[in-house]
Amino acid sequence: MCGIVGYAGRRTAVDIVVDGLRRLEYRGYDSAGVAVVGDGELLTEKRAGKLAVLRAALADGALDAGTTGIGHTRWATHGGPTDRNAHPHLSSDNRIAVIHNGIIENFARLRAVLEADGVEFTSDTDTEVVAHLLASIDAPLPEAMRRVSRQLEGAFTLLAVSADNPDMVVGARRNSPLVVGRGDGENFLASDVSAFIAYTREAIELGQDQVVVITPSSIEIIDFAGVPMTGTDFHIDWDLKAAEKGGFDHFMLKEIADQPQAIADTLLGRLTDHGIALDEVRISDQDLRDVTKVFIVACGTAYHSGMVAKYAIEHWTRIPCEVELASEFRYRDPILDSSTLVIAISQSGETMDTLMALRHAKQQKARVLAICNTNGSTIPRESDAVLYTHGGPEIAVASTKAFLTQLVACYLLGLYLAQVRGIMYADEVGAVVRQLQQTPDLLRDLLDQMDPVRKLSRDLSSARQVLFIGRHVGYPVALEGALKLKELAYMHAEGFAAGELKHGPIALIDDDTPVICVVPSPVGNAMMRDKVVSNIQEVRARGARTIVIAEEGDEGVRAYADDLIFVPRVPTLLAPLMTTVPLQILACEIATARGYDVDQPRNLAKSVTVE
Ligand code: G6P
Repeated sequence: MCGIVGYAGRRTAVDIVVDGLRRLEYRGYDSAGVAVVGDGELLTEKRAGKLAVLRAALADGALDAGTTGIGHTRWATHGGPTDRNAHPHLSSDNRIAVIHNGIIENFARLRAVLEADGVEFTSDTDTEVVAHLLASIDAPLPEAMRRVSRQLEGAFTLLAVSADNPDMVVGARRNSPLVVGRGDGENFLASDVSAFIAYTREAIELGQDQVVVITPSSIEIIDFAGVPMTGTDFHIDWDLKAAEKGGFDHFMLKEIADQPQAIADTLLGRLTDHGIALDEVRISDQDLRDVTKVFIVACGTAYHSGMVAKYAIEHWTRIPCEVELASEFRYRDPILDSSTLVIAISQSGETMDTLMALRHAKQQKARVLAICNTNGSTIPRESDAVLYTHGGPEIAVASTKAFLTQLVACYLLGLYLAQVRGIMYADEVGAVVRQLQQTPDLLRDLLDQMDPVRKLSRDLSSARQVLFIGRHVGYPVALEGALKLKELAYMHAEGFAAGELKHGPIALIDDDTPVICVVPSPVGNAMMRDKVVSNIQEVRARGARTIVIAEEGDEGVRAYADDLIFVPRVPTLLAPLMTTVPLQILACEIATARGYDVDQPRNLAKSVTVE
């Protein structure tokens, strides 16, 4: 949360920085600001509200002179979303400007010391202490940044520019993301690569507790102790078009439409003559054979993909598997040792709750495998093995294509474990992968048939609440459908295990309560399907309006459905790849009908880098 960009080059810095902020706005949109170094002085502009407000303020071209600059888009933590709390924050002499992502936990103590020395603060943020501390050190900016960073506790990525160093942006990171973009006569710093892929595809991963200094012609990295370091180079192969709306009204609609391709890309090249291949596995086959327990840790939508993964992993590998909210995991002192495999699922690779769960697992000697969409991010870097979802950039705050690609990655991982442990033969693994390979085409067909869902969403947009029910892998789909509706349409929405409804939540149902029912395949699991149909009858008997998502050909459910949406037939475990999609569209369309910003829902941030 909070997006940051830095530029040192020969072009107009404010243009590059604001363009980068546009791509990072998903990380927060409470305020935005920029600082450039021009003609021996700092020029800044910052405004509460979305980037558009800042853009309007910049229209007079007052900041166009500088070719070195930094920019920030904020998700407020310390201090309300006001102009004065917007970043950058300046030293008292206006010579140094700082932007920050993260939380400086000891800021109050540092601030008290500075105030006792007569420093006047102009904001309520934790960040401002950094500007004053930097100004208090009589040393070049990189050295000052190194010394200040050592005084800070918590999580931070900092970027600073100084009027005295017109060609230089200095960054520092601990527990928060920062990547370097290596250009030709220009260099970049950003929270993630999407901010600079329009200019360069060559990037550098930084390690923990490092300071980086960019000028138009150089990139230097030192650690907080002052020792020179080298980052890890990587090439970005994301298609720039993937980070644009491409004719759709919202990124979310585009990302929903991108899903067949995202799944195909995630599957590409995974099935070799020797079975499934993962990206980076630094865990030996023997260690994987010795695994006695799997934990999956994740947050939000990624957590729901983990819930689906549990069914697949236990079914295919027979290893007990538990799914945990990452934010809860370490606090209950889970039983972990070197025979435990912990799977961390994260689109961004930066979610602090997930990162902390992963670190706890590593301290307890567990093996950690990441499923992640973002190259160069912290979670894969700190894991023993990585399986990348090749979903491309996901910009809309509510996750869609990341969810489906996480499901695919989880299926691949389950199959991989089964293969390594000798539970499934290569041809059995191959057969499931081929079923997965058919899903992009099936999904394209499904996406072409979504007009009734759009029509339905207009009907449902005035509902007081919407409930979702499902069983087995349909249960996490129900939770995900409800989450999408909460996030986007700000409606009361709850997902329930269909069989659990009668034990309490059924009391919520009154006349015309819409209940969205995810029905299992009558071919794949007739018994389970019949149980869900019974649960549908229970809610109908209490006046609910039932909207049924069922498999093509299941004509038997028609009698229990006020509205019926068919999805293509796939094996039971793979069904969430189909059944989730109408729920994504429903939430997106209801939110639009209610007049809300689909890509940037209130109070949320896409990447939550605080606990
Ligand atoms: C935030 C986002 C959610 C996302 C969750 C986990 O809360 O708003 O959409 O599912 O973080 O993010 P991750 O990047 O770890 O998948």
